[in-house]
This record gives sequence, C-alpha cells and structure tokens, in this order.
Amino acid sequence: VSPIVIVVGSYVQDHAWLTDRFPQTGETRRALGFNTGPGGKGFNQAVACARQDVATLFVGAIGNDHLGAIAQRFADEEELPCRWQVRDDVPTAASSIVIDRSGSNLIVVNLAANEHLDPAFVEAQADAFEGAAVLLLQLENNLDAIAAALALGARHALLRVLNPAPVHPALDAMLLAQCDLITPNETEFALLLERIAGEHIDAATLAARADTDLHLLARKLGVETVVITLGAHGCFVSHGEHERRGDTQAFYRLAPERVKTVDSTGAGDAFSGTLVAALVRFAGRPFREAVVHANRAAAMSTEIVGTAPAMPRFEAVSARFGT
Ligand code: RIB
Ligand code: NA
Repeated sequence: VSPIVIVVGSYVQDHAWLTDRFPQTGETRRALGFNTGPGGKGFNQAVACARQDVATLFVGAIGNDHLGAIAQRFADEEELPCRWQVRDDVPTAASSIVIDRSGSNLIVVNLAANEHLDPAFVEAQADAFEGAAVLLLQLENNLDAIAAALALGARHALLRVLNPAPVHPALDAMLLAQCDLITPNETEFALLLERIAGEHIDAATLAARADTDLHLLARKLGVETVVITLGAHGCFVSHGEHERRGDTQAFYRLAPERVKTVDSTGAGDAFSGTLVAALVRFAGRPFREAVVHANRAAAMSTEIVGTAPAMPRFEAVSARFGT
C-alpha cells in the first residue's frame, strides 16, 4: 500500500526511570522502576498515526548498531513501513527520561544519527510522496533534511504539518512559512513568537490568556493553522483568514480529557500523530473533530509508561470516548 501520511523524523531509544520525585543536583536517587523502548518524536508520531489505521511511512536515520536493530525489529512487529538510512559513522539516538509521581518528565536526548539525516536520502524517497496526502515533521533532525522534506511535500501538494519540537536554534521564518499547520506546546509557541515576530511572552501564563489574545499572537507566526497544546489546559486552535478547514469559528479552545496520568512523555507526539491521521480519516468533516480525537488519544497515551508503545489505537479511543 502506498502511504497517505509520510513522517520524516527521529528515532530514539528511550530509557525511562520512574521516581517518587526528581533527584536534585548531586543526588543519587533510587528509581521505583525502569522501562526502555522505542521513541523519538518522529517515530512516536508515526506509530500514533499508523495505529489510527492510516497508511503511514516513516523515514529516518539510525546507526548500524544494537539500538538500530531494535528499532527495525519494533517497526517490523508493528508492521510500520520504514525507510531507514542506516549509518556506519554515527550511533542510534538514545535518551534518559526521569518521570516523577505526577507523570511529569525531564528528558536528555543524544540525537546522534537523527542529526545526520542526509537530505539526498530524503529526496531519494520522492516516489513515496506521489499519492500521499500529508507530510508530518518535527525538529529533532538537521534542518537541511527537514527543508528537503518540505520541498518534496510542496512539489507533491501534500498538507505540510510541523510539530516544532524541540525548537531548533536555527529555525527561521522561511521554513515555518512553508508549513500549513503547526502544533507547538506553550514553550515552543513562546520561543517561535520571540524568534519569528520578536515578541516576548511568558509561556507559563499563556494558557491563562484570553482566546482573542491567543489568536492574535498565533496570527503573528504567519502559518495558516496553529494548534497550541496546553498540557493540563487542553489545546487552542487558530485559523488564518484563508483556510478554516471546515470549522465555523476562526479560533477556539478544547478542554483536556480527564485520565489517570502515569507518564506524560510523548503525549505531544500522540497528539500530532493522531491529529494528522484523523484529518485523513475524517476528511470533509470539521477540523475540530480531528482535534477532539487527537486530544483524546494524547490523554490516553499518558496512562501507560513509555512513548511509541503507549500510542492508543483508533478502536481503543473510540471505545473509551465513543467516537
Ligand atoms: O516527545 C517525546 C520524545 O522526545 C521521547 O520519545 C524522547 O525520545 C525525546 O526525543
Ligand atoms: Na506514555
């Protein structure tokens, strides 16, 4: 089957330590548990999308090593089609994640192979873009590879979606202007505003601002649709004047779903991956319906420890919330 959604992004082997609280500088703390599994924002989003039963292709880089073999094995078991650039000169990415009792996390990630994704390798996947509908990107790769993917996406008239995480020090307005839809969290939104519009705002109090205010700020990024994920405050949608994607309102907020969170790592990935899948599944229906579904999937992903393996399936989301 040819893919409908193409995710060009990162693979990371996650190592997560469950704790009662975060250790302080210099402190050695006993963990309550440990979990390792596949992750990386790109791979997590690809798995989240594929689990909504939408044909998905993942394109990314790994090392010619033990962790790279684990990545390929998981993708095979998941039946997720992948095109891997396997590199001999750089290792597969790995992260350390510390999770506290509330399910909050601290992450350190060595992006390794992901920062050496060859733009020529991306361009060599042009055949897959033929007939696809959506391109989904994040910022855990080198920007020239991301730019190559965006150019291919434009050439094949794909909907170009960027989850701008984590904000790349060299991201510029040019790259952002090539995206149709972006999904920053509060911190990323504040950083983008600073970078693109020179506007300084406080990320910590963003969710408390009036909707009209958030909409005006979002418009300054020059992207047609901006969805800000606000963690425990749900999410905010802002459309530009040219494309409301079937919504009656130009901007609105959605409340979060109430769940029993044990590990919020990858919730943003569950959101972005499920959102693009829902846009495909619910084609012709208001954008809002896809956001509602993504919001539910994101919440459910926090009830399970881990990232890619914690992405909920379409049936599970429907059964839980009755969609
Ligand atoms: O968004 C969560 C992901 O970010 C984790 O899987 C970790 O690998 C980091 O890259
Ligand atoms: Na999780």
